[in-house]
Amino acid sequence: KSLLVLNGPNLNLLGTRQPEVYGSTTLSDVEAMCRAAGERLGLAIEFRQSNHEGVLVDWIHQAKGRHSGIVLNAGAYTHTSIALMDAISSVELPVAEVHLSNIHRREAFRHVSYISKVALGMICGFGPFGYVMSIEALADHIGQKS
Ligand code: DQA
Repeated sequence: KSLLVLNGPNLNLLGTRQPEVYGSTTLSDVEAMCRAAGERLGLAIEFRQSNHEGVLVDWIHQAKGRHSGIVLNAGAYTHTSIALMDAISSVELPVAEVHLSNIHRREAFRHVSYISKVALGMICGFGPFGYVMSIEALADHIGQKS
């Protein structure tokens, strides 16, 4: 079995982007953490990032039949994208929403998530470790034993 780990806009800049908010870990460090968690749990990990909403929609569509679940950090599209929400509803795959920062202690516009309305669950505020927790939560949900 495999999981798709999907990252949205500006996350390619992780490590240098507002380190006081997002820390100094880079996206390739996050990828390495995800791959290690996948290996531990016997799950293949496909790790992707795009700054483009439609590309993220396409990748969610393509995940159907190929992956058993999706870890999604949609970045700012979290708070705006009905298209991503609808894409998730369309593929009927379990989605673990993740955010590095605790979106609920930040600006009010970050308190609304369209992704949460269709996600299995959401983890935020624990930095990159949230990705590892999301992978573990999906592994448990799909009945994957290490
Ligand atoms: C984020 C939180 C979003 O509000 C923000 O737009 C991001 C990153 C996070 O991981 O904390 O780009 O998803």
